[in-house]
Amino acid sequence: MKKGLFVTFEGADGCGKTTQLKKLEEFLKEKGYDVVTTREPGALDIGQKIRNILLHHNGIVADRCEMFLFLADRAQHVETFIKPAIEQGKIVLCDRHVDSTIAYQGYGRGQDIELLKSLNDIAVNGLVPNVTLLYDVTTETAQQRVGDEKDRMEAAGLTFHKQVRQGYLNLQKENPERIKLINANNSIETVFEDTKKVIINLLQEN
Ligand SMILES: Nc1ncnc2c1ncn2[C@@H]1O[C@H](COP(=O)(O)OP(=O)(O)OP(=O)(O)O)[C@@H](O)[C@H]1O
Ligand SMILES: [Mg+2]
Repeated sequence: MKKGLFVTFEGADGCGKTTQLKKLEEFLKEKGYDVVTTREPGALDIGQKIRNILLHHNGIVADRCEMFLFLADRAQHVETFIKPAIEQGKIVLCDRHVDSTIAYQGYGRGQDIELLKSLNDIAVNGLVPNVTLLYDVTTETAQQRVGDEKDRMEAAGLTFHKQVRQGYLNLQKENPERIKLINANNSIETVFEDTKKVIINLLQEN
């Protein structure tokens, strides 16, 4: 049976992850690949409840509570959706995954990064993306793309978002084989050309 693939989409709020994921889904389906798309947080039933707290809870959400909620969602998502889909030979396109936790809860909120990496390892239980697309964009451009209707994470302020961006860039330097840096300041079409290049390489290797 053909091996499945796990591709994750990372970057700041508004960098263009979902736009690119949808274009890639369409492109791969046209080529006859068996593709499924998903997202974190909140792809499935328990996850949707967690997502609602994470993005829309009005009261205080303590930083470590936020961290465990993201990780709980991930553990459920990996076990009940992502791993089975890969085992069935599918290409799984996932909007945000482990690097978001390090960038947002680690670099953004200031939680211990090594601890977060260990907790991520527990949540994913050995699963590592075949490739991660990191869409890097200036914080100002990202904020403009998000617009005025911001969720709880998006509303966290410019300093927070600059730390998140730097966090992602650090992660890319630490994992240059897995994490492919894409300049997301460019037009949607140019960014998609870069996205396709990475994925076509991956498919040739697989
Ligand atoms: N390269 C681009 N140039 C200009 N506008 C873009 C580009 N990519 C995406 N956009 C626009 O920016 C907005 C945000 O894009 P998108 O929803 O894909 O970002 P995202 O990374 O998924 O954001 P979030 O993290 O909030 O889900 C959309 O209106 C989209 O059409
Ligand atoms: Mg999105």
